Amino acid sequence: MSSPSSSIESVLVENRVFEPSAATVAAARISGMKAYDALCAEADKDPEAFWARLAREHLVWQKPFTQTLDASDKPFYKWFQDGQLNASANCLDRHMGTPVENKTAIVFEADDGAVTTVTYKELLAKVSQFANALKARGVKQGDRVVIYMPMTIEGVVAMQACARIGATHSVVFGGFSAKALQERIQDAGAVAVITANYQMRGGKELPLKAIVDEGIAMGGCESIKTVIVLQRTATACNMVDGRDITWTDAIAGQSTECPPAMVGAEHPLFVLYTSGSTGKPKGVQHSTGGFLLWARLTMLWTFDLKPEDLFWCTADIGWITGHTYVAYGPLAAGATQVVFEGVPTFPHAGRFWQMIEKHKVSIFYTAPTAIRSLIKAAEGDEKVHPKNWNLDSLRLLGSVGEPINPEAWMWYHRNVGHERCPIVDTFWQTETGGHVITPLPGATPLVPGSCTLPLPGIDAAIVDEAGNDVPNGAGGILVIKKPWPSMIRTIWGDPERFKKSYFPPELKGYYLAGDGAVRSADRGYFRITGRIDDVLNVSGHRMGTMEIESALVAKTDLVAEAAVVGRPDDLTGEAIVAFVVLKRSRPTGEEAKAIAKQLRDWVGKEIGPIAKPKDIRFGDNLPKTRSGKIMRRLLRAIAKGEAITQDVSTLENPAILDQLAENN
Ligand code: WT7
Repeated sequence: MSSPSSSIESVLVENRVFEPSAATVAAARISGMKAYDALCAEADKDPEAFWARLAREHLVWQKPFTQTLDASDKPFYKWFQDGQLNASANCLDRHMGTPVENKTAIVFEADDGAVTTVTYKELLAKVSQFANALKARGVKQGDRVVIYMPMTIEGVVAMQACARIGATHSVVFGGFSAKALQERIQDAGAVAVITANYQMRGGKELPLKAIVDEGIAMGGCESIKTVIVLQRTATACNMVDGRDITWTDAIAGQSTECPPAMVGAEHPLFVLYTSGSTGKPKGVQHSTGGFLLWARLTMLWTFDLKPEDLFWCTADIGWITGHTYVAYGPLAAGATQVVFEGVPTFPHAGRFWQMIEKHKVSIFYTAPTAIRSLIKAAEGDEKVHPKNWNLDSLRLLGSVGEPINPEAWMWYHRNVGHERCPIVDTFWQTETGGHVITPLPGATPLVPGSCTLPLPGIDAAIVDEAGNDVPNGAGGILVIKKPWPSMIRTIWGDPERFKKSYFPPELKGYYLAGDGAVRSADRGYFRITGRIDDVLNVSGHRMGTMEIESALVAKTDLVAEAAVVGRPDDLTGEAIVAFVVLKRSRPTGEEAKAIAKQLRDWVGKEIGPIAKPKDIRFGDNLPKTRSGKIMRRLLRAIAKGEAITQDVSTLENPAILDQLAENN
């Protein structure tokens, strides 16, 4: 490794190492690196025996499985296929008759600070009653149900109730638009929508039901037979006769007992839409058995959950993190968890720290983007600095969703963890179902900015474009070589796209994560270097560049052509930059600003506010090769404000570069 660029890189390589304290190691479930290595060796020696042992020890099976892995139709792997179980029974019923029965399952804090709690027993009754309500509204095993709800106890109840009756849920994040909701309802062929009249965020009342009505009215949603509406606030909303019913009316008279439907281990527990490298989001389908096994096990391994812990994952149920580490994992592991309706900056940017003190949170799991924005807030205003609150209850911190820069890691470590709490930087994806590369708090020495090592049983590696291993220190493509139980099963309704996206033939049948990564020369630790496809990560939210381009060109009266790229951003990780060619002449000055605003709002309507480009540049054209291909690498350089040093000799219209570089 002697090229100048790699020696610069090696100077930047992080060399601070934080060993776990002896006390943390002694108390941990996976205690020390020897214990970690032993589990990895067990998994290597006989993967099927390893997974079978864990599935038998950690899940409650109605009918035990006899075959662990069926790989006869690769890459459509099937796990524990002839076994039968129910996900809700594995999260709730399993605790009845144990000390967990009367333990608090959820501490719910509303946007305005009001707190409600439910015990496991009470949660089981709520889930069962709502499950009966779904059945009474005609929802059957095998049906799909779209959930478009705020963070509430009822949001978790809705997911668990679907699981209880064997209906497949598809949660749509409450920030997505009517159009995005309609597309998901249609693609999933959902029979019901569970929503709320409004949601409260940052003191504001935002509509949900009105967006459901708007989405359904766009057409193609004839499969929807019922809409159940939680009255989250006192404000009335439109109710369609014969189709819509309030949550209260739906559960009225329903029994609080509902026997869980036993489903096969491969039964689709949920479909969750995420962005890919084409315009259309993909419905990532997860199984019941494999998903749940990993949801529970990673709670026990990565978070080293103890009975007395108070766990808080700040993710919304609309994302995979809110599925695995709010709706299923904590319950399957018998944890007490905080569920929070609001936003980290309301009524002030110390809200998270205040809530940790108030509820005595011991495990806190959030995204780098939240940490970075709270650092900025604390630097601007002493009063919201974490030092103003007592954070002694914390024993473990987590990070998820995007790379955490070492500066943010150190701030989190010092100011929140008081140099006492390990930080687990968990790398995973909607498709992996749960953590795949992460430190273990009582074993792994930590290096800021590195997600360290794969969990036992996860055969992660870095390869070149032909699927060959690259040496430590050299960058490459992140793959997982062997199947694992919580992996994506297929893309809903599109098995061909599943194969093409995740198992390209040149990669020897390995699972392609879509990220670049490098392993450190000394420890073999993984560091994620970012997506290698046309997917952006904005504030930990996944956005497809093609998806945003499609939305822009759908504004047919105005837009002729659009190209979207990402640009590094201190706060949001990446920011969206759009290069747009209009059907009219190129605007400048105030007019350009006005049109940019119009387009931003349009994208907000088409996809959701999170997809709005931060920067929109207008050009007479886009940089294209003579064969008409848009040269995105040049656009990426322009977006970053870099001088173009690349070869532009293949460019049809080199003059366009200066025009696009102008900040109009
Ligand atoms: C993409 C997956 C993981 C659940 C939330 C996001 C990026 C995720 C990390 C991390 C570096 C990370 C990757 C990945 N990512 N966690 N700890 N370090 N990058 O799930 O929306 O499916 O996005 O998020 O790029 O591919 P997702």
